[in-house]
Amino acid sequence: MNKCVYPGSFDPVTTGHLDIIERTAKLFDDVTVAVLNNYTKSPAFSVAERTAFIKKSVAHLKNVRVGSFDGLLVDYMKQQDAKIIIRGLRALSDFEHEFQLAAMNTKLCSEVETIFMMTNTKYSFLSSSMVREIVQFGGSVEGLVPAPIIDEIRNRLTKQ
Ligand code: PNS
Repeated sequence: MNKCVYPGSFDPVTTGHLDIIERTAKLFDDVTVAVLNNYTKSPAFSVAERTAFIKKSVAHLKNVRVGSFDGLLVDYMKQQDAKIIIRGLRALSDFEHEFQLAAMNTKLCSEVETIFMMTNTKYSFLSSSMVREIVQFGGSVEGLVPAPIIDEIRNRLTKQ
């Protein structure tokens, strides 16, 4: 069985992420979307919220699971018995960081390979931080985050 892990902060998941997940699910038998429990970045949404948003967004994809991890990604890969990391690449600005991350992961575990999916040009401008900013200033995120989670994201970020 070919297996892969698509890791990220997903704070929150966007339609750009969902597009990568849907395309990856056509290429692999078993896809795990892995949410980083990142203590240093102080995310807007808890791991439980981010995981729940993704679960709702991928309910139509039978070969996609959602998990979370803290610590090193390569350790999580070992736990999952997976060797392929999927990352989305939006523009040149993503490249340097992604190149460094992929190289470091291979250095930490030589069996791990990173495969990059080019982001659909429709979403090349989209990021989770922009979504948060738009919602906080009362803008519409229709089409920017998966439809089933729009209301929850809006309610959660505007009620403080
Ligand atoms: O969505 P993001 O924030 O770009 O995702 C980054 C992520 C989660 C893939 C990366 O920060 C990560 O894997 N963090 C876990 C710690 C780790 O293994 N770092 C790589 C070696 S320094």
